Amino acid sequence: MDLFLKNKSVIVTAGSKGLGRAIATEFAREGATVLIASRDEKNLQETVASIKKETANENVTYIVCDVKDPDAIKAMVKKASDWNGTVDILINNAGGPPAGKFLDMADEDWYHAFELNLLSFIRTTREVVPFMKKQQRGHIVNIASSSIKQSLDNLVLSNTMRPGIVGLSKSLSQELGGDNILINAVGPGTIETDRISELNQHRASEQGISVEEVKTKAEQLVPMNRYGQPAEFAKAIVFLASGANTYITGQSLIVDGGLIKAL
Ligand SMILES: NC(=O)c1ccc[n+]([C@@H]2O[C@H](COP(=O)([O-])OP(=O)(O)OC[C@H]3O[C@@H](n4cnc5c(N)ncnc54)[C@H](OP(=O)(O)O)[C@@H]3O)[C@@H](O)[C@H]2O)c1
Repeated sequence: MDLFLKNKSVIVTAGSKGLGRAIATEFAREGATVLIASRDEKNLQETVASIKKETANENVTYIVCDVKDPDAIKAMVKKASDWNGTVDILINNAGGPPAGKFLDMADEDWYHAFELNLLSFIRTTREVVPFMKKQQRGHIVNIASSSIKQSLDNLVLSNTMRPGIVGLSKSLSQELGGDNILINAVGPGTIETDRISELNQHRASEQGISVEEVKTKAEQLVPMNRYGQPAEFAKAIVFLASGANTYITGQSLIVDGGLIKAL
């Protein structure tokens, strides 16, 4: 199947590690022109070098961008559009919000999670949509969490903010379908990244058990008996954001090895 990704202009936010890095790698493998963004320049440099080496695609670059900073978002989209003349594909992603329960969270925690996990998607989308409208074509995939289908223990910030991504994606699919701009949300179940290691450490110290035990117990809950790998997640994103996807929009997909039982 041709994914029609050669020379397409792609932005992947939070692209230096974990899911974002895997997504950027798969786009590069398909011949796209990829801009990744996150906060740590050294990680970004290493990731760009590694993606170039792995995919033999030289059209990969980075910009330092904290997605909580609206000016940095503008600079990121300007860099991609100056480089390629447009933005064809946006993958909205960000770091995860802190773990914790409702009474652990003060106003500043809620503002932080809103800015990081919802407002950043809104701001970045606002910058790219004019390019997509102009060319009457575009794909946006918003990375959420399985908490869009089933709330997660001890993650009240995620359980509250991520469903907003679904509402945003659905609204945009209605407003922008006529411009041939397709928007979907994808929630990872448990995909083996640093984020999962951090959450497992948190759970281990809460429950007084080892991190290995937390992992084994979690894997036993997955019908496929294992965590997912970032590349497995990335392939779903790349298909949804590709020219091969011409009619799936406004949907929420969970990539979780069968973990979530909700319909
Ligand atoms: N992995 C899973 O199974 C899973 C499950 C549910 C939800 N999620 C969600 O999916 C998203 C990605 O997760 P992951 O597993 O890939 O996490 P990860 O491995 O910890 O990577 C997080 C990435 O986000 C970047 N980042 C963090 N804060 C940022 C900011 N303010 N501005 C720009 N970039 C920022 C990090 O780079 P810098 O720190 O250098 O900025 C890094 O590149 C998170 O929101 C996570 O909560 C993941």
